[in-house]
Amino acid sequence: MRHHLLLASGLLLAGGLASVATASAADKDSSLIEQGQYIARATDCMACHVGPDGTEFAGGKPISTPMGDIIAPNISSSGEYGIGNYSLEDLTGVLRNGKTPSGTHLYPAMPYPSYRGMTDEDIKALYAYLQTVPAVDRKPKAETDLDFPFNIRLLMSFWNAQNLDRYEPPKGLDDQAARGQYFVDHLGHCGTCHTPRNDLMGSDYDQYLGGGPLGPWQAPNITSNETSGIGLWSNEQLAEYFQNGQMSYAAQAAGPMGEAVHDSLQYMSKDDRLAIAAYLKTVPALANEDQQQPVFDPEINQRLLNLEPRITPATNYSQDELEERGLKTSAIEDPDSPSGLYVQHCASCHGQEGYGQPVSHYASLVGNTTLRSADPRNLVGVLLNGVAYHGATPGALMPGFEGKLDNGQIASVANYVRTEFGGHADSALDADQVDHIASGKQPVPTLIRYAPLLAWLGIAVLVLLIAGGVWWWWRRRNRNDRDAHHDNDTRSNDANRNEARTNG
Ligand code: HEC
Ligand code: HEC
Ligand code: HEC
Repeated sequence: MRHHLLLASGLLLAGGLASVATASAADKDSSLIEQGQYIARATDCMACHVGPDGTEFAGGKPISTPMGDIIAPNISSSGEYGIGNYSLEDLTGVLRNGKTPSGTHLYPAMPYPSYRGMTDEDIKALYAYLQTVPAVDRKPKAETDLDFPFNIRLLMSFWNAQNLDRYEPPKGLDDQAARGQYFVDHLGHCGTCHTPRNDLMGSDYDQYLGGGPLGPWQAPNITSNETSGIGLWSNEQLAEYFQNGQMSYAAQAAGPMGEAVHDSLQYMSKDDRLAIAAYLKTVPALANEDQQQPVFDPEINQRLLNLEPRITPATNYSQDELEERGLKTSAIEDPDSPSGLYVQHCASCHGQEGYGQPVSHYASLVGNTTLRSADPRNLVGVLLNGVAYHGATPGALMPGFEGKLDNGQIASVANYVRTEFGGHADSALDADQVDHIASGKQPVPTLIRYAPLLAWLGIAVLVLLIAGGVWWWWRRRNRNDRDAHHDNDTRSNDANRNEARTNG
């Protein structure tokens, strides 16, 4: 009996220990998966690998490049259609070298040049998480179909040799800025949008984070320059922008940045957002020549903030009251004029005087970075497409005016808000420029534009060289044959002669 009791309690103890062990293994797994989900958010795999209907990781989204559209594949946990059969090493190969398990080279539309710097630990966590996402058992409808010579994937090994690992971060970063650097350069791949490209479509590190074109949008200069970049933003303001897609009534994240905030940055910890900010402040300042006034002017911003809370009914201020506060005002008369367009289409939300109702998320146009920028692209982008996303704090969104206003009217209202509220002395956008921005066409590097011609020329030269070589070889062979004949003839003549001599 005592024996049995002992045995039973022994078994119970063993069972208990075993279940504690499995529970803690499960805890470890779930915390690894949770960490992996954080990394998936930080790296924003979803942004590109989403299906056209919004299905997570289903693939099918075209990433547009000057060489043509490159389709992001299915990376769900489906064994047949996704990456369910990947090993950890397979995923590491894709992220670090842009090479699939079968050895196919990927195009850098998949940002492996950035992910390459991810730590083993982060890749392991990401791998654990990706294994748990629902399987999508279908192929994306669209397929990548680039023209010659871009369809030769082997060329990417030359591209990799030319372009990878060329950026060296500033030396002596403190821990916070170093975390920020890791985030900006590797997880968040901010440079894929904010660093312009060189002739080979690699990052132009001389212009690191200096701003780059993105179809109809422009990723702004986010170096520490005070006029063109984010030098005058406080770290808290930057962190606020990453969380809410809005900063102190002065900046809103629209277009691709709206997506980055919505899908990724709003989920980051406050520490990570502040780390990004701290690092951006250490990035060598670059100036954009055209940018004469600071994109962000803390003085105007402070005046706006001081108006709170009375700012809500912006249109209720009298001209005198507004002028008293040193803010710019304007009178609106003719409905067909630029100011008339503004009153009809914008003032209900942004206020007659452009102060908006920022407390309720109707952006202030006075002091707005998009309006103060010398580059009109993001303003046109916002007017055509609106602001479709918000960050962690839900708020009002802005409707797009594509189809409601023609491109001439868009140009006209853009000129109005730039000069009235954006601090520009003059703005002369016209319908053609709006057409051009809307088309998303951006300058194609000369090398890319002429690559097909150069490739065909190269092939023609190669064919000529080979043909020349064959001809030369054939001629030489013929000549050798003839010489050999000739030699034989002379030799036999000599022989005859010798014979004659001995006979004679
Ligand atoms: C900016 C868009 C973008 C982001 C962000 C992105 N990818 Fe990709 N990815 C692509 C594109 C485009 C391709 C296809 C490239 C090609 O065809 O050469 C691709 C290919 C892949 C492949 C290869 C699949 C195969 O076997 O063919 C894997 C795996 C992959 N991505 C995983 C990821 C993971 C994991 C993340 C997040 C850490 C991620 N991607 C983030 C665009 C992106
Ligand atoms: C997919 C492209 C893309 C990615 C990735 C991206 N950005 Fe942006 N970013 C943009 C665009 C476009 C804007 C302009 C948005 C606007 O004006 O509404 C912008 C705006 C900004 C601004 C505001 C600048 C200003 O003057 O208003 C900051 C700061 C910024 N990005 C930082 C970052 C950081 C840090 C990362 C990486 C964690 C990042 N971005 C990743 C495209 C991108
Ligand atoms: C229905 C309300 C509404 C109307 C009408 C409207 N807007 Fe907006 N607008 C908004 C809201 C809300 C935001 C801020 C969006 C956010 O940050 O989520 C905004 C943001 C903006 C921004 C800042 C975008 C950025 O990226 O920094 C500009 C510039 C702007 N609006 C200009 C205009 C102009 C010009 C018109 C008239 C043609 C107009 N808006 C009409 C609601 C509106």
